[in-house]
Amino acid sequence: MSQVTVTEHLLIHQKKSPAASGVFTQLLYDLILSAKLISRSVSKAGLLDVLGETGEINVQGEQVQKLDEYANSVLIHRMERSGALCLMASEENADIIPVPERFTRGDYVLIFDPLDGSSNIDVNINVGTIFSIHKRITSAAAPAIEDVLQPGYRQVAAGYVLYGPSTMLVYTTGMGVHGFTLDPSVGEFLLSHPDMRIPESGKYYSVNEGNAAMWDQPTREAINYFKGSENRRGQPYSSRYVGSLVGDFHRTLLYGGIFAYPKVYQKPGEGKGKLRLLCEAAPLAFVVEQAGGKATDGERRILELVPQRLHERVPLFIGSPRDVDDAMRFMK
Ligand code: AHG
Ligand code: MN
Ligand code: MN
Repeated sequence: MSQVTVTEHLLIHQKKSPAASGVFTQLLYDLILSAKLISRSVSKAGLLDVLGETGEINVQGEQVQKLDEYANSVLIHRMERSGALCLMASEENADIIPVPERFTRGDYVLIFDPLDGSSNIDVNINVGTIFSIHKRITSAAAPAIEDVLQPGYRQVAAGYVLYGPSTMLVYTTGMGVHGFTLDPSVGEFLLSHPDMRIPESGKYYSVNEGNAAMWDQPTREAINYFKGSENRRGQPYSSRYVGSLVGDFHRTLLYGGIFAYPKVYQKPGEGKGKLRLLCEAAPLAFVVEQAGGKATDGERRILELVPQRLHERVPLFIGSPRDVDDAMRFMK
């Protein structure tokens, strides 16, 4: 088994990938350290006082889990000291988080969902961290919201950490997708899935069927296509849905198929997406495209959407190219 660490892998790619400068390597190193600290708390969640809720409501209008808050504080504390960033944005913070001037600052911008799948923490089901990295585009001393509101195709790197039976880091710098598994005995992420490619088509579809009554007709027809045998496979797909985007996405990346969080209509004519464009849809869209897959909001390519607001939400259809194309035939 090759013992290739993330740092070694980055150096191997450094020559080819403009993003993997020394500063970027330092950024990724601190991101990895954060992931190890979060992984340690996730694996002991039942023993530490991190289960349950803080009693607060976050900017998303959701109950803040103690582990959400812990993961968020670890990432902010660690990453503002990385020397690589000028600005951060977190799913858990209403506003942008400029790196204080007392720290060495760099030109990178980090956007993250510190803990994805929070509703699964207390029941010991996979949770994750999702991250997206841009270069700043403003030149004034203080970074600004424009540095965060960039379309996904401008990301220099993106990926996620999956806290599951093993802890995995999956990321891209635009040179393919690479997966690393944490060896807790040495505390290193070691290359376990080089050059990940999503299958052209898969046998799983992943959607919260509990929302079916609030989908529009095209969405119902698209989902029924995967449930019926009149699809390209000539047989129904299997359904898998764990309720953690990182877990559902990682399975889709490895086995192929499609994950969908379609527009939900609470009131007629007011269809809304649930997943966040900046810290969930755009980073995973970068990863899936680098692995040969596709990601749309039901009409447009996720990576081409220009965010208007920090916590903008979008519908998401992501996975194998053939399966996303088949779903889009109904959505357009
Ligand atoms: P988060 O815990 O960061 O708020 O994300 C939860 C998201 C995502 O992980 C998952 O795919 C989705 O919420 C599940 O939503 P439903 O429970 O509505 O299916
Ligand atoms: Mn999330
Ligand atoms: Mn979250």
